[in-house]
Amino acid sequence: METVVSGIRPTGNLHLGNYFGAIKNFLKMQEEQNCYFFIADYHSLTTHPTPENLHESVKQVLAEYLAAGIDPEKSTIYIQSDLPEIAELYLLLNMNAYIGELERTTSFKDKIRAQPDNVNAGLLTYPVLMAADIIVHKAKKVPVGKDQEQNLEMTRKFARRFNHIYKVDYFPEPTTFNFGEDLIKIPGLDGSGKMGKSEGNGIFLFEDPASIKKKVMRAVTDSGPSAMNQTVSESVQNLFDIMKQVSTPDTLDFFKEKYASCDIRYGDLKKQLAEDIINFTTPIREKIEDIKANDAYLSKVAQMGAEKARESAVKTIKEVREIIGFRKF
Ligand code: TRP
Repeated sequence: METVVSGIRPTGNLHLGNYFGAIKNFLKMQEEQNCYFFIADYHSLTTHPTPENLHESVKQVLAEYLAAGIDPEKSTIYIQSDLPEIAELYLLLNMNAYIGELERTTSFKDKIRAQPDNVNAGLLTYPVLMAADIIVHKAKKVPVGKDQEQNLEMTRKFARRFNHIYKVDYFPEPTTFNFGEDLIKIPGLDGSGKMGKSEGNGIFLFEDPASIKKKVMRAVTDSGPSAMNQTVSESVQNLFDIMKQVSTPDTLDFFKEKYASCDIRYGDLKKQLAEDIINFTTPIREKIEDIKANDAYLSKVAQMGAEKARESAVKTIKEVREIIGFRKF
């Protein structure tokens, strides 16, 4: 059994793309591996949220991940700021992280561009905090996408450097977890590309039915097939791809055949798709609402997660302090 760590940014709500991509993989992993999933609320301070916004967004993502099926009995799900050990390891790792290498990371350069009026030290040392998140559990696998590859590279560098400086073989070098062939990419509703938060082309698990319907009915299509068995355009294929996840195989075949025989009506396709998405998301939305209304449950989950996560974090910090030379008199 491998130790797996992944951080979840407490921004925005989960959309169908997140669900069929990352979450489904988390659900599979929690059956087989020693998983730590945490809400990265220390990281989110780089954007200066208000206390209310910070708390609300942490609560929302926690409720969403639980509603989507992350099981606190199987995984360790916790809130990053409940582990002071992470802050301590971050401090220690910062001593051996160099300004030059941090300035060169693409994510830092992107962030300077995105928030030129708030280029704080937390942004610069973001990869150090991320390394602390991962190596505090001595994790070997990190299930993140390609956009996090450079951060993972930095994590390996900091782990290796620590081992080298102190002549120990203490921290493993974690690698991105390969999701395998079956990582499902859900396209957006705007004709091309994948579903994303910032693209504004997504459908959220928490979204109400009327709004889902409106979005699906407005999804980009083409002018329709003009010859039998014509290749499907990207925009229509996107709708088929979403349908593949939320509808029955019969429904999908029905519309594919209609397309092939040139008598598809996109209005009908969209109506069906909207209905099937709503059927899929409704139980999850209701669960999110139930969980959000149940502070006692949320508090129990957070406490249980923090306790389990601290077991490994406290052990690591104790050993790291010893290695560094903070020894008791
Ligand atoms: N940087 C990650 C992201 O933007 C979030 C994150 C923070 C993370 N700490 C982590 C992911 C540790 C994996 C492991 O999505």
